[in-house]
Amino acid sequence: MADEIAGNQMLQGKTCLVTGATSGIGKVVATALAAQGAQVIVAGRNEAKAQRVVQEMRAETGNDDVCHLLADFSDLQQVRHLAAVFKERHARLDVLVNNAGAFFNTRRETPYGVEMTFLVNHLAPFLLTNLLLDVLRDSAPSRIVNVSSDAHKLATMDFDDLRFRRGYFGIKAYGRSKLANILFTYELSRRLAGSGVTVNAVHPGHTATDIWRTNFSVVGPMLKWVMGLFALTPEQGADNIIYLASSPDVEGGHRQVLRRERSGALFAIVIR
Ligand SMILES: NC(=O)c1ccc[n+]([C@@H]2O[C@H](COP(=O)([O-])OP(=O)(O)OC[C@H]3O[C@@H](n4cnc5c(N)ncnc54)[C@H](OP(=O)(O)O)[C@@H]3O)[C@@H](O)[C@H]2O)c1
Repeated sequence: MADEIAGNQMLQGKTCLVTGATSGIGKVVATALAAQGAQVIVAGRNEAKAQRVVQEMRAETGNDDVCHLLADFSDLQQVRHLAAVFKERHARLDVLVNNAGAFFNTRRETPYGVEMTFLVNHLAPFLLTNLLLDVLRDSAPSRIVNVSSDAHKLATMDFDDLRFRRGYFGIKAYGRSKLANILFTYELSRRLAGSGVTVNAVHPGHTATDIWRTNFSVVGPMLKWVMGLFALTPEQGADNIIYLASSPDVEGGHRQVLRRERSGALFAIVIR
């Protein structure tokens, strides 16, 4: 099995951190990077699950240089801790994939002045990225891949109401957090111009994963089943992310919106 999966070893010597790598699209991305020979750090929020995924990835790829770090993104102190531990243990970071994400059909307060979707999907990866920027700069050429969504098209930013006190609707909050990912990508890309650190945002396509289960006690499994009838597989959803994280085609360069359709109707917003 390991031999079948082992890729071209193009990422030998590279260190990759993938958030939300304990399930769905992120797990496929992390496994693919490990298969290409990278040292992979699985960021998860559940110790037992993260340990299990690391063991599965090692067995599947034959790459033992896979480990995990923990942080629940609803707690920014844990995000700070993850970044600090990462820096203690690792001297370089070649690829950061900000993939962890969640959907909440009911509004949840947080202590940070924003509602929960915005915290988990945007503020936490925004903080993590900024805390790791020095090591990304020192490791250049390096890459940041932000996993957004085409749900951003449904969204508007309301900087006066990031707690979403008015008119909360799960998909609107989700879309707003994903719009924030894209705005962050553009601005970070502008600020990092000439540094050798590239920043891209990507929509994986509608993919059959567990993301819609959250808070839908009865409807969740049904929705997942219906999605499964027409959605992409996690492998297909991961395809463009793996491309942005590892392909020599997107090393350095200029801004463009790239449309790739290797796995159905997918697109990647590539900002270099
Ligand atoms: N599926 C789609 O159709 C679709 C479409 C567009 C964009 N996306 C984006 O793709 C990314 C991956 O989602 P997915 O579809 O693969 O969903 P998924 O299977 O539910 O995976 C989400 C990952 O994020 C982690 N996560 C969730 N809440 C977290 C928290 N509070 N702290 C730390 N980690 C947390 C999960 O950890 P656990 O394993 O512990 O649950 C899991 O590893 C997300 O950013 C999502 O918005 C998905």
